[in-house]
Amino acid sequence: MAKKIWQTKWTKNNWPTSRFANRVYIYLKNKRVKSILDLGCGGGRDSVFFAKKGFQVTALDVFTDNFQQERLKKTGIIFFKKDIKDIKFKPGSFDVVYAHLSLHYFDDKTTDKIFNNLHKIVKPGGYIFIKCKSTSDPYFGKGKKIEENYYDFEHKRHFFTKEYMVKKLQKFKIIKIIKTNCLYPDKASFVEAFAKK
Ligand SMILES: C[S@@+](CC[C@H](N)C(=O)[O-])C[C@H]1O[C@@H](n2cnc3c(N)ncnc32)[C@H](O)[C@@H]1O
Repeated sequence: MAKKIWQTKWTKNNWPTSRFANRVYIYLKNKRVKSILDLGCGGGRDSVFFAKKGFQVTALDVFTDNFQQERLKKTGIIFFKKDIKDIKFKPGSFDVVYAHLSLHYFDDKTTDKIFNNLHKIVKPGGYIFIKCKSTSDPYFGKGKKIEENYYDFEHKRHFFTKEYMVKKLQKFKIIKIIKTNCLYPDKASFVEAFAKK
């Protein structure tokens, strides 16, 4: 089910650049950073945005189709068809790790492993930017409960609180963690984090 939703909805290229990517770019534009890893890039709307702004972008997703992969590669983006759980990069490989709505699918233990790995692959002095669904989201509590704040409704979603994000980012220095909402297409609610290694 999840695979179908992501392949049909998220890996098409008709979505505009996310507002989160714009906010991240405004924050980064005068900083000395070059390489970005876009985790769960979908159709790559934000990867392409960062590449056009002059960043060296590496993007990965398990479900991005061949057509989108070729399009990303033509923009100079390095693409890997990989599961976020299994990524292996050398320590300090990226100035920036960026994850727009792609780190809220895992149980707590797996989330811990992923965040620990991300801490390793960010360069010292580098940044991490994450946006996840929050417990104020209308989907929160729907479907079968798997563990605390983790539900299976159409697919598995791990809803974040600000406190949970702080805990997962404990190895980083938090710059800011805020809650945001969007009214369209549904009243979704998120936790966004900016942090530094
Ligand atoms: C809500 S979409 C966001 C896509 C993209 N970041 C954007 O903003 O357009 C979530 C993405 O995460 C990807 N994804 C989900 N689980 C994944 C996993 N375990 N490893 C890699 N990608 C995953 C999906 O294929 C999908 O493209």
